[in-house]
Amino acid sequence: MRRLRASDALRKLVRETSLEPTDFILPLFTCPGEGVRRPISSMPGNYQLSPDELVKECEEAYRLGIGGVILFGIPETKDEIASGAYADDGIVQQATRALKRALPKFLVMTDVCNCEYTSHGHCGLVVDGEVQNDPTLEWLAKTSVSHARAGADLIAPSDMMDGRVGAIRKALDAAGFSNTPIVSYAAKYASVFYGPFREAAESTPQFGDRRSYQMDPANAREALREIELDIQEGADMIMVKPAMPYLDIIRQARDRFRTPLGAYQVSGEFSMLMAAIHNGWLDRDRAILESLTAIRRAGADFILTYFAKDATRLLA
Ligand code: PBG
Repeated sequence: MRRLRASDALRKLVRETSLEPTDFILPLFTCPGEGVRRPISSMPGNYQLSPDELVKECEEAYRLGIGGVILFGIPETKDEIASGAYADDGIVQQATRALKRALPKFLVMTDVCNCEYTSHGHCGLVVDGEVQNDPTLEWLAKTSVSHARAGADLIAPSDMMDGRVGAIRKALDAAGFSNTPIVSYAAKYASVFYGPFREAAESTPQFGDRRSYQMDPANAREALREIELDIQEGADMIMVKPAMPYLDIIRQARDRFRTPLGAYQVSGEFSMLMAAIHNGWLDRDRAILESLTAIRRAGADFILTYFAKDATRLLA
């Protein structure tokens, strides 16, 4: 076996998995204001960006050849009914318009969820302390249509309500957006690894947790059911999240379904690696590339990653 490992040229020739900048989607957080670039302490190198700063960040990402961005919003105010999520002048809608104006060809994906917009921090309507499924679908459908209207190229629901892909597809079609694809966070686990994100997006639930809608980390077959249902409902692409602790799920999804498959290397995966890198325990460049290669090898076509820019520079 060692004959084919003897030189860099030989290793490249027999390499089975490749990484390309176009495989990467960069997650970005946008907030109201102008000239705002507020560091997120738990995610070194990441910021809450006002739309003008977001455009600057994306100009660089576009120049580097990164596949696209996914936007998360931090609204001015939150309420019980997540009105900031579906307002036509909501923060993601404003940022999307600014981005598409500045960089019409750059791919903009928008995260559709309510937790950043509700005062209680849950992903749906809460009645008597419980997240209601069907009433929440209406919010998600309205949000998706308003994102599409603002120019979003892809709609990415991450709420984990049942039936949301079907509801969003129907609403998009009725509003004249039958060409807008849905990227479903189909297998999304109730994971500790979203911790840093919740600081970044200010979306920590004020009571309870998300285990009544996100998946139990112990389950694999259930992930395949979730994915199957989302495809039936019209998902154009599917996603597994988190990525590195769930490589087996990515592999099973790849083997079972033909639909394009993404994986989300989430905030906790990023921050964990960054902490080790800052302590000098892991080599930065190799940690970035090995973690992304592992996710691609498991079967992901594209990766949502906070390392998108760093990885692209390393590949150049
Ligand atoms: C929900 C959402 C979350 C993430 C993406 N969309 C947080 C959650 O479900 O609590 C997490 C992403 C990350 O950790 O990087 N809007």
